Amino acid sequence: MTAAKRAVSAKLFFLKEFFRDPRAVGSVIPTSRAAIDALLDPVDWSRVRTVVEYGPGTGVFTREILSRIRPSARLVAIDTNRVFIDYLRDVIADDRLVCVHGSAADVEAILARCGEHAADYVISGLPFSTLPGAITDAIMDSTCRAIRPGGAFLVYQYSLFVMPMLEARFDRVQLGRVWRCTPPARLFWAHRSMASAFSLDDAESLAAE
Ligand SMILES: C[S@@+](CC[C@H](N)C(=O)[O-])C[C@H]1O[C@@H](n2cnc3c(N)ncnc32)[C@H](O)[C@@H]1O
Repeated sequence: MTAAKRAVSAKLFFLKEFFRDPRAVGSVIPTSRAAIDALLDPVDWSRVRTVVEYGPGTGVFTREILSRIRPSARLVAIDTNRVFIDYLRDVIADDRLVCVHGSAADVEAILARCGEHAADYVISGLPFSTLPGAITDAIMDSTCRAIRPGGAFLVYQYSLFVMPMLEARFDRVQLGRVWRCTPPARLFWAHRSMASAFSLDDAESLAAE
């Protein structure tokens, strides 16, 4: 099969999964190249060891992340849709990729099973505005705990829906916009500062020294 035919068949496959579960898939087509580059370009990939991707779908971000991370890094891709996970396992042969059938809400347990303590970056393609509110809250809380200090949560969405949730949990949130995407995308880089590595106990014991 040619690359063009493969791309068309991946898009049709994505559309079929959207009609099967519109609220979880949240979009009729995969994310555009322009939005992928805009979200990933600010990261210094040469320093990254562990990346988590939520909702990889047919893998448009997955492939691009793999092309940017170094040979010893690892990408853990988590999707609730088993059909997408089986598809990714079939079409991407890369030892650095671990595909997990599960929920982003369980990211901490999934990372622990993979032998990882924390992620440098978590990248999300989840349709937060159509997911149940309790699930969105659980994902936001567990993601914040799963990202190491100095790391960030990278999110793309079609609205500003997640902005207050990110601002409530992260130290700094940067906002971007991509017009060459259907519909135009909002991008968020939510950072955990290095200072958040120190707990109140650390601060108290340092003060006592
Ligand atoms: C909008 S699609 C994004 C697909 C792909 N990343 C892209 O950019 O084209 C959303 C994806 O999130 C997945 N998903 C929905 N809820 C999830 C959850 N709680 N945990 C992990 N994946 C989830 C869906 O199955 C779907 O693959």
